Amino acid sequence: MKIITTLAFTVLCGVNSYAQQTLNMDSLIDANLKFAAKQYKLLEKNVPNNLMPRNFNPAKGKVETSDTKWWCSGFFHGTLWHIYEYTKDEQIKQIAEKRLSILEKEKHFTGNHDLGFMMFNSFGNAYRITGKPEYKEAVITAASSLTTRYRPAIQSIQSWDSNKVLKCPVIIDNMMNLELLYWASNNGGSSKFRDIAVTHANSTLKRHFRPDYSSYHVLDYDLNTGQIIKRVTWQGAADSSAWSRGQAWGLYGFTMMYRFSHNKTYLKQARNIANFLLNHPNLPSDKIPYWDFNAKGIPNAHRDASAGAIMASAFLELGQHVKKAERKKLVAAAEEIIRALSSSEYLSRPGECGGFLIKHNVGSMPHNSEVDVSLTYADYYYIEALLRYKNWYMGK
Ligand code: GLY
Repeated sequence: MKIITTLAFTVLCGVNSYAQQTLNMDSLIDANLKFAAKQYKLLEKNVPNNLMPRNFNPAKGKVETSDTKWWCSGFFHGTLWHIYEYTKDEQIKQIAEKRLSILEKEKHFTGNHDLGFMMFNSFGNAYRITGKPEYKEAVITAASSLTTRYRPAIQSIQSWDSNKVLKCPVIIDNMMNLELLYWASNNGGSSKFRDIAVTHANSTLKRHFRPDYSSYHVLDYDLNTGQIIKRVTWQGAADSSAWSRGQAWGLYGFTMMYRFSHNKTYLKQARNIANFLLNHPNLPSDKIPYWDFNAKGIPNAHRDASAGAIMASAFLELGQHVKKAERKKLVAAAEEIIRALSSSEYLSRPGECGGFLIKHNVGSMPHNSEVDVSLTYADYYYIEALLRYKNWYMGK
């Protein structure tokens, strides 16, 4: 019996790609969520109590950490809560609770727009799963902090403070932080939060997209005139390119905004973005994008598995809102991505990468930062996609 269990574990944990391709999705999801629990206990051991995991860089061979102000400080908790939700492993819950206590102070953070990533993935999931009122309070306070960055002159939330090259940058990623605002508004927070979320989404829809439904990364505004100064990139290959994670944020963001608002314009936008991605000639056959759809050196450019994980999770939600034929296509694409990410090419082996799950992600290529590493947000959206597939599509 022990030998069979060991064999099954070896096969499922990234050693045998063929097995991951042929396993039924139920077994694949079950095995990889249980594997994630083991890996995340290891990751916890590799990070001092006052810090958060940030990446595992194979070239350096170690887990790198961040403080709680880093935009990714909520993903570790979010992944832990998702793993706990499935496995009911009390040790995982204890780690999540312990780490929430060091993050809580950031509900007052106003230094950039990333409060949604930081406080909704962590405290939002914690509240959804435990119902503890203090977690909800943290989410509502964080939403209020985020609204301090709303700029009426541009009908948008300012993403980052000005720097040497940008006056008032608003980036496509900001769509993701609207979930914090909308949810908080619907759950006891001010109606102003929702109004800001809708206004920001409408501005993004009008100004951030090209005719082919790809998006610019950064719009830089003049706050005195309310005019756009320039449309540029920060993390992409070129101002005119389609930076992969940015496209994925837009897809996820408009799908999520449709969930809350039932505004068909958002649904249409998400469907158009999905078509842009799925029909792109530079999308590899396993559907894990290169770090930019227009990266130099394709097909030898680095992949960004995090963009693939975000796309998979978003396709699964979008599939809930469209007719059968389109749903089938979206779910099939998500399944391909999940299977690729679950193969030995992308998924760590037991004990590998300091406990991180997904390999081959790119933080920022132009800054040569976090290139071909494991990252917390790739793990988060991979695990979310596994659960979405399980909860929404298994046996249906
Ligand atoms: N700014 C978030 C990202 O790198 O995708």
